[in-house]
Amino acid sequence: MSLFIKNGEIVTATERYIADIYCEGETISAIGRNLPAPTGAEIIDATGKYIFPGFIDPHTHIYLPFMGTYSKDTYTTGTQAALVGGTTTIFDMCCPSRAMSAKEGFDTWNTQSDGKACCDYSYHMGVTKFDDASANQLRAIVAAGVSSFKIFLAYKGAFGIDDTELYRTLKLAKELGVIVTAHCENETLIAERQKELLAAGKTDPAQHHESRPPLVEAEGVHHLMTFAELTGTSVYIVHLSCEEALKNAVDARLRGVDVSVETLIQYLLIDKTYAEKTDLEGAKFVMSPPLRDARNQPVLWNALRTGLIQTVATDHAPFDFKDQKPMGAADFTKIPNGIPALEDRINLLYTYGVKTGRLDLNTFVNVASTQAAKLFGLFPRKGCIQIGADADLVIYDPAYRGKISAATQTMNVDYSGFEGWPIEGRPSVVTVRGEVAVRGGKFTGTIGRGQFLKRAPNHF
Ligand code: URP
Ligand code: ZN
Ligand code: ZN
Ligand code: ZN
Repeated sequence: MSLFIKNGEIVTATERYIADIYCEGETISAIGRNLPAPTGAEIIDATGKYIFPGFIDPHTHIYLPFMGTYSKDTYTTGTQAALVGGTTTIFDMCCPSRAMSAKEGFDTWNTQSDGKACCDYSYHMGVTKFDDASANQLRAIVAAGVSSFKIFLAYKGAFGIDDTELYRTLKLAKELGVIVTAHCENETLIAERQKELLAAGKTDPAQHHESRPPLVEAEGVHHLMTFAELTGTSVYIVHLSCEEALKNAVDARLRGVDVSVETLIQYLLIDKTYAEKTDLEGAKFVMSPPLRDARNQPVLWNALRTGLIQTVATDHAPFDFKDQKPMGAADFTKIPNGIPALEDRINLLYTYGVKTGRLDLNTFVNVASTQAAKLFGLFPRKGCIQIGADADLVIYDPAYRGKISAATQTMNVDYSGFEGWPIEGRPSVVTVRGEVAVRGGKFTGTIGRGQFLKRAPNHF
């Protein structure tokens, strides 16, 4: 298996130049101008196209038992959709319920993924309780190659942990050299506000935002920062949505806390008015933290551009509009949370970030690929184009014009939060460790090619 990609414009987080790339087996073996075409290699002419390192989504929920139902994708459908959209590595959240042990959770996710993924994947290991058995099981999971945890300061009674558990989890992570990713919202405030709203007869999807306004998220971030500062643990705030929360993260960084920040493509592009639509249409746009007032969007774009925010993810959590979102028709607290976007993140970020001048091409690659590889121990195997790196490549056609639609998407969900949005560019060829997995916008790869990526701790 060898590939010779001619004349593309290679764009990494730091460079931009025209060259040929030779991929032998699973890795990149040569990069240069006017390389001789190797015999037997498939030749792909990339003239007029960009070649990006495979994109990395650091936050997905391919398999997620949540709010009385299951997210709709499987490791096969979800990773196919990822690839069609140019994402070649995902980090899925392994989220056992509090009734399960960490080991049971890890085994369950492995059963879901093993032999079914089309792109490479890893997990952030959810610590949804911390009891006597947890520490040893978590040590074993880290030794098995999962060098990041996930905690929830929200979802009381489900995934949420209390302060004792938080402190002990962070201490263990510090000892093991593991980075802790965290959903930051104050669960007590949410629970109280939900009760008040429902008691006042306010049950529609727009109330979701009222139950968890920006200060609820900002308090969650501040809370985590206090614990991270006291324990010295490296932390990563997932799905940060608003200015108030960002300020608390930046303040902590100035005090020396090792904190990185992720935002989502949804927060960058859609605002809370989408969730205020009537006839349950708003339920499509219910996620946590909620979509925010539009005033936050320029703040998030500027923070990305200037390096205050490190990554753009999707938090892909697909629940059908037809029969899952209506579970909350009479009570907004029962709407399964999530807005699917795994397939669309890169095309949206390119169209509405790069083409509008909000991000330059190098920053685009950095926030959508390289930074995640660095933070989570995959660099330089992933996140770059250099000799020896995995041949995960996205040959991107900037001349493509199209529209996002649920009718044509690969994600296994019956709606799109971005229905009808024009896109200006898309991956024309995508490779997974040297094998072509997408041609002309369609998955052509192999089910089961995706590998579980073992990551070592103490990489930063
Ligand atoms: O609304 C969201 N974000 N759904 C998925 C679960 C989570 O909080 O990440
Ligand atoms: Zn979350
Ligand atoms: Zn607090
Ligand atoms: Zn999530």
